Amino acid sequence: MDISKKNQLIAEELYRKGWVIVDDYLPEALYFPLLLEQQDILEHGQFRHAGIGKGESFAIKPEIRGDKVFWLDEYQLSPMQKKYWEIMEKLLIQINQRCFLGLRSFESHFAMYPPGSFYLRHLDQFQQVAYRIVTVILYLNKEWEEEDGGALRIYFPDENGIEQGLDIYPKGGRLVCFLSGELPHEVLPTHKERISITGWFKNTG
Ligand code: OGA
Ligand code: MN
Repeated sequence: MDISKKNQLIAEELYRKGWVIVDDYLPEALYFPLLLEQQDILEHGQFRHAGIGKGESFAIKPEIRGDKVFWLDEYQLSPMQKKYWEIMEKLLIQINQRCFLGLRSFESHFAMYPPGSFYLRHLDQFQQVAYRIVTVILYLNKEWEEEDGGALRIYFPDENGIEQGLDIYPKGGRLVCFLSGELPHEVLPTHKERISITGWFKNTG
C-alpha cells in the first residue's frame, strides 16, 4: 500500500475513533536513516532534557518525564528529515479533508528515552495554549521485544464508557496518531534506549 493510501486510512480512523496505529507505515529504508541521524545528533550532545508545560510554567521533571529531545528546524532539515516532513505535510492535508480540524502547521522532535525512563500519564495539549490538535509518533527502533518495556499505553472508553488501556510497543516503522487533547497516554518504563520522532499538527500558523 502506498503512503497516500495509508494517510487516507489514518484520516478515516482518526475521524471514527480519535486514534490509529499503522504498522510498517514507513519501510526500513526510510526510517533506518532517520535512526542513524538521530544517533549522530545524540553523539554530538545536541539532545536536551524534555520538560513539561510552556513559557513560565516550563520545568524539567524527570519524575514525570525522562526523555531527551532534539527539535527539528523546518529551515534546516537534512534530506531524510525533509522526506519525513513532506510525508507529514501530506498527512496533514488528508486529515483536514476528512476531519475538518483546521490544521495549519507542524512541529516535530526526535525523542530518546534512556533505560529506566518513562513519561507519566498526560495529554499533549498545554493548559494555557491548546494549539496542538493531532499527535503523530513514528518509532525508529530496529528491534523491540515486549520484555524491553517502553510501551506507549493509551487510554480510551469502550462501548460501555469504561476506560480501557492498550499497550503499543515502539517497533520501528510503526506510526501512532491521535487527538492530542483527548487521548490520555503514558510511556511505561523502558529497559532499552527508545527512539522515536514525534510531531504535532497545530491549528496555528
Ligand atoms: C510525548 C509522548 C509517546 C511515545 O512525547 O508527548 O507522549 O510513545 N510520547 O513516545
Ligand atoms: Mn504525549
